[in-house]
Amino acid sequence: MSDDQQYPHASELPTAVAQLNHTVVYASDRHLSAEFLCAILGLKVGAPFGPFLPVDLGNGVTLDYYEKRDEPIQSQHYAFLVPEAQFDGMIARLEAVGITYYADPSHTEPGRINHLFGGRGAYFDDPDGHNMEIMTRPYVRP
Ligand SMILES: [Fe+2]
Repeated sequence: MSDDQQYPHASELPTAVAQLNHTVVYASDRHLSAEFLCAILGLKVGAPFGPFLPVDLGNGVTLDYYEKRDEPIQSQHYAFLVPEAQFDGMIARLEAVGITYYADPSHTEPGRINHLFGGRGAYFDDPDGHNMEIMTRPYVRP
């Protein structure tokens, strides 16, 4: 954004809270991708809502799977904070369906998990190559 932009500077605005409510996840097959995520994380696919197939994440955020069949799908990154007690089950389900998980976002450490911020985490690809992350502790940002 240039210096002559027309938007007010944040310091000029009242403090606001804007919670992420939903976002679209592109998929070549919305059912396949939504079912995959739900099978790994232990969630349920919602009823179709127009062209969207929703997955409610339990914290008020919905992933709306949307099919894009005629053009390549650009990989995005989605990170899920999950209960420590359910992490092992998620890893086991990835292994059961033959999906490789990695300790790092660049996928150079296959079959390993990380221990960032005192928790556990792993990365894996969804059917369209979206880089999914599960972690038991949120990032500690300075
Ligand atoms: Fe991440």
